[in-house]
Amino acid sequence: MKNCPDWLNESIFYEVYPQSFLDTNGDGIGDLQGVIEKLDYIQSLGCNAIWLNPCFVSPFGDAGYDVSDYRKVDERFGSNRDLVRLFNEAHKRGMKVTLDLVAGHTSIEHPWFKASAQPEENKYSNWYIWTDSAWTESTAETPLIRGFSDRNAAYMPNYFYFQPALNFGFEEPDPDKPWQLPTDHPDVMAVREEMKDIMRFWMDLGADGFRVDMAASLVKSDPEMKGTIAFWQDVRAMFDTEYPDCVLIAEWSFPKHALQAGFHMDFMIHFNTEAYTALFRDEHKRDGFGTPGTLYGDSFFDRSGKGDVTRFLRHYTEHFEATRELGYISLPTGNHDLTRVRCHRSMAELKVIYAFLWSMPGIPYLYYGDEIGMSYIPGLPSKEGGFGRVGSRTPMQWDESRNAGFSTAKAEKLYLPLDPSKKRPTVSEQEEKPTSLLNHVRALSALRREYPALGADGDFKVVYGKKGRYPLVFLRQLGEQKILVAINPSAEKCTIPLAKKYSQLDVLKKSGVKVEQVDRKTELVMSGVSFALFLIHA
Ligand code: BGC
Repeated sequence: MKNCPDWLNESIFYEVYPQSFLDTNGDGIGDLQGVIEKLDYIQSLGCNAIWLNPCFVSPFGDAGYDVSDYRKVDERFGSNRDLVRLFNEAHKRGMKVTLDLVAGHTSIEHPWFKASAQPEENKYSNWYIWTDSAWTESTAETPLIRGFSDRNAAYMPNYFYFQPALNFGFEEPDPDKPWQLPTDHPDVMAVREEMKDIMRFWMDLGADGFRVDMAASLVKSDPEMKGTIAFWQDVRAMFDTEYPDCVLIAEWSFPKHALQAGFHMDFMIHFNTEAYTALFRDEHKRDGFGTPGTLYGDSFFDRSGKGDVTRFLRHYTEHFEATRELGYISLPTGNHDLTRVRCHRSMAELKVIYAFLWSMPGIPYLYYGDEIGMSYIPGLPSKEGGFGRVGSRTPMQWDESRNAGFSTAKAEKLYLPLDPSKKRPTVSEQEEKPTSLLNHVRALSALRREYPALGADGDFKVVYGKKGRYPLVFLRQLGEQKILVAINPSAEKCTIPLAKKYSQLDVLKKSGVKVEQVDRKTELVMSGVSFALFLIHA
């Protein structure tokens, strides 16, 4: 039995990038009141939990992933009181709210960093990784920024130059570099305790846990991740004793490590294994952020039919088997760093992808706007360190009113421009159409709840998944309940034989799929871009 909060296995998450969700005060930027006003909408999708991207005080060099006060909501979004109201309003509806914890680095504007940059030794001198000379050369393992202040030292960034790495210590410190502090150094311990206190602060106010940014990045010189795993295990022990109903979610993308480290869940996304990329993000390899018109690589979910599902299955099944007793893997529709899943795809193709994602073990995550198939908007100037990522962060498209119902501000004041297409999808238009993507998502969420075999804890077995071949067919099972899921993203029709044990099938949901009896044998006939979910009779 997994030792996870009991709400987790029934959850479907919705990721809110708050800048772009709903602006209620007309300043052109989304706010917490906007999230509160849309809770019922989020719940109508079958989503009962939220991951809110960073909303804390920040100079927003990296969309808030450069925090300068961990205990205060940035005024662009509202106040701490508004965040507590969001927790309360969500809880009233039986929903959960998880925050984004940027544990590995702060902004250079953070008072701790400003103090640590001073030449005079003080409480914060060792809270970041500083060398012992301004002239220390960067290496691949220890990239360095030199000349930042009059402190005779260089600091280590964790991501962009303005995101200095907090000092969680070195697992294997180089004896010739005494500035590489061991993981049990008192100043390192102080940083660790502070991070735990920040988590306590928000959980005491009602947060239901955290998605941890770059969770694998904390301890340096840690080739086997032992130091990083030990830190998170300590955090998990705190959760188990003090906040057993709260969750720890990793951005690690290597579930075997993340779940061993005590996370309840890890995203399997575009780094560390090629599993996710092989499904529907090969465009990252080819052209960075999916330039329209450029045909991308060989994702399995590509109508060219050139993908190879075994690239995904190899990694996925290995991590699934290794972690099934510990927690969950999530394959999200997308996130604020990735090209939108809509890029290069039709709504029909998205329906097939979502049928797959909502039928997998673990926890589905829906990135805001993916439920209506919002497009990736190419060519936008960078905003707040987004670069190519901004095309996936444009304002939510609610309806046909001014600024698609996102904001009453003048168009030029919007955080990012809207999708300029006259045919851009909106929630209001899709609400009306029973066959819309939005209603497809709702139906899939309802099925997942009705049939526990399809849910987080059901077993997963590949029935048909061959190198370079379509379709993918797999079995989900919990107790006596068995569901067969068939997925054909390619534009080509495909037919496969089905074993006798799969001959008695009830359709739960399907599009473009037939089960035929030929010479007393059962065949699954799938037209191009099709899917089916069948309940199997015993
Ligand atoms: C976040 C990014 C961010 C980076 C640095 C990530 O993985 O998702 O949006 O730029 O960490 O904090």
